[in-house]
Amino acid sequence: MKLQEFLSFLVISICVVAGLCVEDDEQSLLLQLKNNLSFNSERSSKLKVWNESIACCNWNGVTCNDEGYVIGLDLSEESITGGFDNTSSLFSLQHLQSLSLGYNNFSSVIPPTFNRLKNLTYLSLSYAGFVGQIPIEISQLTRLVTLDISSVSYLTGEELKLENPNLGMLVRNLSSIQQLYLDGVTMTSQGEEWCNSLLFLPNLKELSMSNCNLSGPIDASLANLVNLSVIILDENNLSSTVPETFANLKNLTTLSLSSCGLIGTFPQKIFQVRTLSSIDISYNSNLQGCFPSFQLSGALHTLIVSITSFSGTLPSSLSNLNGLSYLDLSFNNFTGPIPSFGMARKLSYIDLSRNNFSGSIPSSAHFEGLQNLISINLGYNSIGGKIPSSLFRLPLLQKIQLSNNQFGQLDELKNVSSSKLNTLDLSSNNISGPIPASLVQLTGLSILQLSSNKFNGLMQLNKFLDLRNLTTLDLSYNNLSVNVNINLSSIANIITLNLASCRLKVIPGFLRYQSKLSTLDLSGNQIQGSVPNWIWKLENLQSLNVSHNFLTDFEGPLQNLSSNLFVLDLHYNQLQGTAPVFPKSAVYVDYSNNNFSSFIPDGIGGYLSGTIYLSLANNRFHGSIPYSICNASSLQVLDFSHNNISGTIP
Ligand SMILES: *[C@@H]1O[C@H](CO)[C@@H](O)[C@H](O)[C@H]1NC(C)=O
Ligand SMILES: *[C@@H]1O[C@H](CO)[C@@H](O)[C@H](O)[C@H]1NC(C)=O
Ligand SMILES: *[C@@H]1O[C@H](CO)[C@@H](O)[C@H](O)[C@H]1NC(C)=O
Ligand SMILES: *[C@@H]1O[C@H](CO)[C@@H](O)[C@H](O)[C@H]1NC(C)=O
Ligand SMILES: *[C@@H]1O[C@H](CO)[C@@H](O)[C@H](O)[C@H]1NC(C)=O
Ligand SMILES: *[C@@H]1O[C@H](CO)[C@@H](O)[C@H](O)[C@H]1NC(C)=O
Ligand SMILES: *[C@@H]1O[C@H](CO)[C@@H](O)[C@H](O)[C@H]1NC(C)=O
Ligand SMILES: *[C@@H]1O[C@H](CO)[C@@H](O)[C@H](O)[C@H]1NC(C)=O
Ligand SMILES: *[C@@H]1O[C@H](CO)[C@@H](O)[C@H](O)[C@H]1NC(C)=O
Ligand SMILES: *[C@@H]1O[C@H](CO)[C@@H](O)[C@H](O)[C@H]1NC(C)=O
Ligand SMILES: *[C@@H]1O[C@H](CO)[C@@H](O)[C@H](O)[C@H]1NC(C)=O
Ligand SMILES: *[C@@H]1O[C@H](CO)[C@@H](O)[C@H](O)[C@H]1NC(C)=O
Repeated sequence: MKLQEFLSFLVISICVVAGLCVEDDEQSLLLQLKNNLSFNSERSSKLKVWNESIACCNWNGVTCNDEGYVIGLDLSEESITGGFDNTSSLFSLQHLQSLSLGYNNFSSVIPPTFNRLKNLTYLSLSYAGFVGQIPIEISQLTRLVTLDISSVSYLTGEELKLENPNLGMLVRNLSSIQQLYLDGVTMTSQGEEWCNSLLFLPNLKELSMSNCNLSGPIDASLANLVNLSVIILDENNLSSTVPETFANLKNLTTLSLSSCGLIGTFPQKIFQVRTLSSIDISYNSNLQGCFPSFQLSGALHTLIVSITSFSGTLPSSLSNLNGLSYLDLSFNNFTGPIPSFGMARKLSYIDLSRNNFSGSIPSSAHFEGLQNLISINLGYNSIGGKIPSSLFRLPLLQKIQLSNNQFGQLDELKNVSSSKLNTLDLSSNNISGPIPASLVQLTGLSILQLSSNKFNGLMQLNKFLDLRNLTTLDLSYNNLSVNVNINLSSIANIITLNLASCRLKVIPGFLRYQSKLSTLDLSGNQIQGSVPNWIWKLENLQSLNVSHNFLTDFEGPLQNLSSNLFVLDLHYNQLQGTAPVFPKSAVYVDYSNNNFSSFIPDGIGGYLSGTIYLSLANNRFHGSIPYSICNASSLQVLDFSHNNISGTIP
C-alpha cells in the first residue's frame, strides 16, 4: 500500500470508527433539513435530538454506509407540518437508498425534486398529508423496490391524485418494484388501463390500491404477475367478476376485495390456493359462490365472506383448515347444518349469523377443541335442539350470540366459574323451563338477553343483580313471574333493563338508585298505582316504556321535570287528570289510550321542537288545541283522535 493510499485509508477508518460522517457535508445537510422543517418537538423522537454533540450517523432515524454517507433516513411520525419543498437539502443526500416520511402532516404537493435521489430503493410517503397530483419525476426512480404513497383524503380534505401522469406513466420504468401501495390515491381508471399498467411490473409481489376510484373489470392477465402474493383492492367499484386465473398465483397469500361491487360466481379454486392465508370478499352483495372441499392446510387464517350471495352447505372439510382463526360468513344464504370445527383449534372468531343454517348441534365435540374461541355468533338462523353446554366451558370465550333461532333447551351449566363470558344473547328462541340458576356463576356477564323464549317459573331478580358487571338485562316476553322485591342496597350498574311482560305488580323501587339507567321497559305488566316522581330524576334515562299497565296517576309535582327522555311511552294505562309536561328532548311521545283530560297550560309545544311522534288519542282531552303545538316543527305523526277537543285547529 502506498503512503498516500494508506493515509486516506487511515482517514476513512478514523472517521468510521469515530462514527463521524465522512463529509461534514452530510451532517450540515441534515441540520439544515432539520432547521427548515416545522415539527412538533413534543411529539418528535428523532429530529428533536439531532445535534452536533454526536456524529450524525448515530442520530435517530439516520443510517450511514461504511463510508459514512447517509443511505437511510426515517422521519416517519415526527409531526412535521411543513418546510419541505424542492429546495430542501434532503435532495442533496445523493446516496439515500431508503427514505420514509410517512405519518406526518406536510399538507403540500410532493416536490418533483425527488428525482435527484436516484439510488432510492425504498420510498414511503404514506399518510404524510401530501396532496395533489403525484409528480411524473417519481417515475425516474428506477431502482425503487418499494413505493408507498398511500393516503387518506379525509385527514387533509384534499386528495392525492394519479391521473396525469396516470398509473401507467408512473410505473412504466419502475420494473424493479416488488411492493406498490397506493391506497386512497384517486386514479379514476378503467380496468383495462390500470391492469395493463401493472403488467410493467414483473416483480410485483404486493399490490395495495384500495379506495382509488378504480373501475373494472379486473383483467385475467394480472395473474401473469406470477410473484403476486398480496392483492388488496378494497373499496373500488369494480363491477367485475373475479378471474379464475388468480388461482394460478402460486404464492398468493392475501386477497382482499371487500366492497368492490363484484358480480358473477366467485371461482372456487381460489379458496384452494395452498399458500392463501387471508381472504376477504365481504360487502359484495351480488357475488355468488359456494365452498369447495378443503384440503388439510394450516395456511388459511382469515376467511371473510360476509354480506355476499354465497349459498349451499358448508363442507365438513372446513375443519381441515387447522390454521383458521377468523371466520365470518354472516349475511349469506348458506343452508344445512353447522359443521364441526373439530380440528380448527385456532379459531378465535366465528360469525355464521344471518344465514339459513338448520339442524341441531349434535355433540359437544363440535366446539370442545376450540380453546382459543373468543366470540361465536350463530344468530338469525334456524338452528334447533340443545344449546351445547361445552361452549360455556371454553376458557377464552367472551361472547355467545344465538338469538333468533329455534334452540329449545338450555341445561344447568357446570364448571363455568372461570368463564370469561361477558355477552350471552339467547333471545328469540324456543327455550323452555326455568332460567338456569347456574347462569349467575358467569360472574363476568355484562349483557344477558333471554327475551322472547318460553322460560317459566318464578325468578328472583336480585340473583342477577349480584353480577357486578351486568349492564344489560332483558327477560321480556317469556312466561316468567319476576320478583323485583330487592334489598335497596344492592349495587348494580344497569344501563338497560327490559322486564316487559314479566308479571310485575310494582315499579321496582331499587331502580331509583340506578343512576346509569338509560333504557327501561316495564310494559305489559300488571303495575297499578302512581308513576313515582323519582323516575323523572334519573338523569341518564332516555327511554321509558310503561305502556300496557294499570297506572292511574303521577306522584307530583310534574312541573320542571329535569328528565332527558327521548322516548316516553305511557299508552294503555288508566292515567287521568292533567297530562305531564313533555320532556324537553322528547322524540317519541305516546300518551294515548288513557283518561287524561287536560294539558298543563301551554305545556304542550313548549319543548316539542324535536318530537317526531306524538299521540294523545283516545283520552278525554277537552278544550282547544294549544297554539304552541305549532312549534313542533319536526312532527311526522300527530294523533289527537277520539278526544273532546273543540274550537279551531291552530
Ligand atoms: C432552509 O434553510 C436555509 C438556511 O438554513 C435557507 O437558506 C433556506 O432558504 C431554507 N429553505 C427553505 C425552503 O426554508
Ligand atoms: C443532543 O443529542 C443527544 C443524543 O441524541 C441527546 O441526548 C441530547 O439531549 C441532545 N442535546 C440537545 C441540546 O438536544
Ligand atoms: C396531523 O394533524 C392533525 C390535526 O391537525 C392531528 O390530529 C394529527 O395527529 C396529525 N398527524 C400527525 C401524524 O402528526
Ligand atoms: C420548485 O418549485 C417551484 C414552486 O413550487 C417551481 O416554480 C420550480 O420550478 C421548482 N423547481 C424545480 C427544480 O422543480
Ligand atoms: C448508487 O448505487 C450504485 C450501485 O449500488 C453505486 O455504485 C453508486 O455509487 C451509488 N450512488 C451513490 C451516489 O451513492
Ligand atoms: C422510460 O425510460 C426510457 C428510457 O430510459 C425513456 O425514454 C422514457 O422517457 C421513460 N419513460 C418514462 C415515462 O419516464
Ligand atoms: C370516480 O370515477 C368516476 C368515473 O368512474 C368519476 O365520474 C368520478 O368523478 C370519480 N371520483 C373522483 C372523486 O374522482
Ligand atoms: C419472482 O421472484 C423470484 C424470487 O424473488 C425471482 O427470482 C423471479 O425472477 C420473479 N419472477 C419474475 C417473473 O419476475
Ligand atoms: C414464492 O415465495 C417464495 C418465498 O417467499 C419464494 O422463494 C418463491 O420464489 C416465490 N415463488 C414465486 C413463483 O414467486
Ligand atoms: C358502480 O358501478 C356501476 C357500473 O359502473 C354503477 O352502475 C353503480 O351505480 C356504481 N355503484 C356505486 C355505488 O357507485
Ligand atoms: C336465498 O335462497 C332462497 C332460495 O334458495 C332465495 O329465494 C333467496 O332469494 C335467497 N336470498 C338471498 C339473499 O340470496
Ligand atoms: C368486570 O369488568 C371489569 C372491567 O371491564 C373487569 O376488569 C373485570 O374482570 C370484570 N369482572 C369479572 C368478574 O369478569
